[in-house]
Amino acid sequence: MSDIRFDGRVAIVTGAGAGLGRSYALEFAKRGAKVVVNDLGGSRDGSGASHRAADVVVDEIKALGGQAVANYDSVATVAGGEGIVKTAVDAFGKVDILVNNAGILRDKSFSKMAEDEWDLVISVHLRGAFCVTKPAFNVMRENQYGRIVCTTSGAGLYGNFGQANYSAAKMGLVGLMNTLNIEGAKYNIKTNTIAPLAGSRLTEDVFPPDVFTKLKPEFVMPIVLFLASEANQDSGMIFNCAAGWYSRTAVVCAKGVIIGDGKRPVKPEEIQDNWNVIKGLDEAKPLGSATESFNYVMPLLK
Ligand code: NAI
Repeated sequence: MSDIRFDGRVAIVTGAGAGLGRSYALEFAKRGAKVVVNDLGGSRDGSGASHRAADVVVDEIKALGGQAVANYDSVATVAGGEGIVKTAVDAFGKVDILVNNAGILRDKSFSKMAEDEWDLVISVHLRGAFCVTKPAFNVMRENQYGRIVCTTSGAGLYGNFGQANYSAAKMGLVGLMNTLNIEGAKYNIKTNTIAPLAGSRLTEDVFPPDVFTKLKPEFVMPIVLFLASEANQDSGMIFNCAAGWYSRTAVVCAKGVIIGDGKRPVKPEEIQDNWNVIKGLDEAKPLGSATESFNYVMPLLK
């Protein structure tokens, strides 16, 4: 087992003033990275702002002998994203690692969800990832090296009552990763996504107290550190992680069925007759790009 080190590497962790982000930032710094600790310092629902959250983590890192700078921009604006990346470049000369982690919640059952609750959650999680990743990606591209870790959620991958806005935003991050995986390939930029479970401000009233204390952010940290390291050569993958459980999860495409010859019309009754095979997920596997799905259709296009 070789040591995972980040000497000479520069890492940005968004939302690093608390919870999961804080535990990543501390460990990156302990292992030699120079860290930008970004945090808007607002409340759980996205309101307010304060320098305190980021400053406390920077102080913790410095007290341990590490190197870090604070950034207080919101990820949700283009200016904020550029400001975060500029902080890294001005202080440390480059960006090697980006962890898109900042997040808020505005839970409401779908029929009661207001437009602002939808917009704010989409803007922090999904637009936020665009705003920070674009300038970071361009620096990484120039340096021919990058590791990006996005944060999705079981709510997006599998659904969760009261979180339509959050689920949609979090699944959007999977789409972003899929294409960054393809566009980053020739620049040695690897993008992966985690779906964590951890006790934090976001989940303090979600998990029962005994479960909350057991789901320590420190159990999510190791897979983020590995994915962000030079040792990781994989890209475009999603990983569940919680309390010592690490598992890949994926959007998959099944073999399905071929009906007809690609020329004659297919009837709804034929779909009905083949329904168990169509929904059956036989030989399901993840695809590397949308183009790969053409392989299944090709026999019908001849
Ligand atoms: P947390 O609330 O402890 O940390 C999130 C941090 O993001 C906060 O410090 C907050 O100030 C910061 N933040 C919020 N909006 C921001 C903005 N616009 N710009 C910059 N910083 C901002 O929550 P936690 O649990 O550590 O969440 C981290 C990520 O993990 C989030 O993306 C969350 O959706 C995701 N996640 C967490 C799960 C869990 O079980 N804790 C489950 C699935 C996903």
